[in-house]
Amino acid sequence: MTTQTTHARTRVGIIGAGPAGLMLSHLLSRAGIDSTVVETRNRATIETTIRAGILEQGTVDLMVATGVGDRVRKEGSCHEGIELRYGGESRRIDFPSLTGRCVYLYPQHEVLKDLIAARLGDGGDIRFGVTDVALRDLTTDRPAVTFTDADGTAVELRCDLLVGCDGSQGISRFAIPDTLRTDYFRAYPFGWFGILTEAPPSSDELIYARSDRGFALISSRTPTVQRMYFQCDPGERAERWSDERIWEELQSRVAGNGFALKEGPVFQRGVVPMRSYVCAPMRYGRLFLAGDAAHTVPATGAKGLNLAISDVAVLSQAMERFFLDGEPNLLDSYGTTASDRIWRAQHFSWWMTSMLHRDESATDFDARRQLGELDTVTGSEAGRAFLAEAYTGWPTALTNPGAAAAEALRLTAGRTP
Ligand code: PHB
Repeated sequence: MTTQTTHARTRVGIIGAGPAGLMLSHLLSRAGIDSTVVETRNRATIETTIRAGILEQGTVDLMVATGVGDRVRKEGSCHEGIELRYGGESRRIDFPSLTGRCVYLYPQHEVLKDLIAARLGDGGDIRFGVTDVALRDLTTDRPAVTFTDADGTAVELRCDLLVGCDGSQGISRFAIPDTLRTDYFRAYPFGWFGILTEAPPSSDELIYARSDRGFALISSRTPTVQRMYFQCDPGERAERWSDERIWEELQSRVAGNGFALKEGPVFQRGVVPMRSYVCAPMRYGRLFLAGDAAHTVPATGAKGLNLAISDVAVLSQAMERFFLDGEPNLLDSYGTTASDRIWRAQHFSWWMTSMLHRDESATDFDARRQLGELDTVTGSEAGRAFLAEAYTGWPTALTNPGAAAAEALRLTAGRTP
């Protein structure tokens, strides 16, 4: 029996229906540029997998400016600060007074639901549940992605440009030959033990806690479901922990001043590794990388999703220039432009991690120095502003997603694709 291959064509082939891939497809469609998104997972998995939850102001601005912000505006909760907790006390960092901005607690899978609904509502092409994804002819002007569709059809999709948005475990970045690729990588000697619990909130704002037993983060999902994490061994097996032991560990890390977490049944638990990674370059021929396919940050800075969105804000603008004006310059400078924000976020995520976590090899000097650092950050307006500016997202003209979208809208206004 011969297997027939279906030949298809689109302008931009996008590998991966995560935040980067879906937002890119959405931004391109608003500029009249067609794309196809191929994704190995099915829609239900994407829409229910629990990931991070903090959106920078610029991410929300971009969602609102491009018509996918209704739910985040209604259901997202605006957070005007965080608490740094150490030595048994909390010190608050107030975002609006320091930066004029805030962040939104709105889980990543809700963003994905909004983007999928928008793409499908606009007649967009998303292929869920595909297998055998492979990239081809990347250094020609007709690169292709081949895959087997969910119904078993073999497909060859020819494109003008391809974008790898397939996350840290994806195939795309390995299409850049080893001899041309630099992998900047750092593994941390700890992971995060994350739980979802059915309990009322313990705090109005997120608490980032440093204790002699290690880091803990108190976050939230809804008025009845809370998200919490504590630093653990990266090889820890979550299923070995009873609810009682989890609560004892969490309580000990935030103890002090009579504060206690509100406990409830733990209905989901898992361990995530902590890594920093950047791939350079972010382009090979006609393949571009965006989001986690190009970089990973430890979750302490809440930057992963936001960086993915800012990458594609830059990339979509560059693609518009390329397709609508025949101008490749912005595509050529994509990696340089995006890496400015990527390395700031790398520094911030590493810095928050190193300031708040307990490294097994740390000496008493290191522990005392960490407390000195926390006092420096929380004890002056300059220190608090440094943290607040990074946490809420840097509003530079070139890399702020809101500004990039506004610029993109201005550039395409009045044009017929
Ligand atoms: C979360 O709510 O899952 C969350 C919030 C802030 C972080 C990381 C994770 O820094």
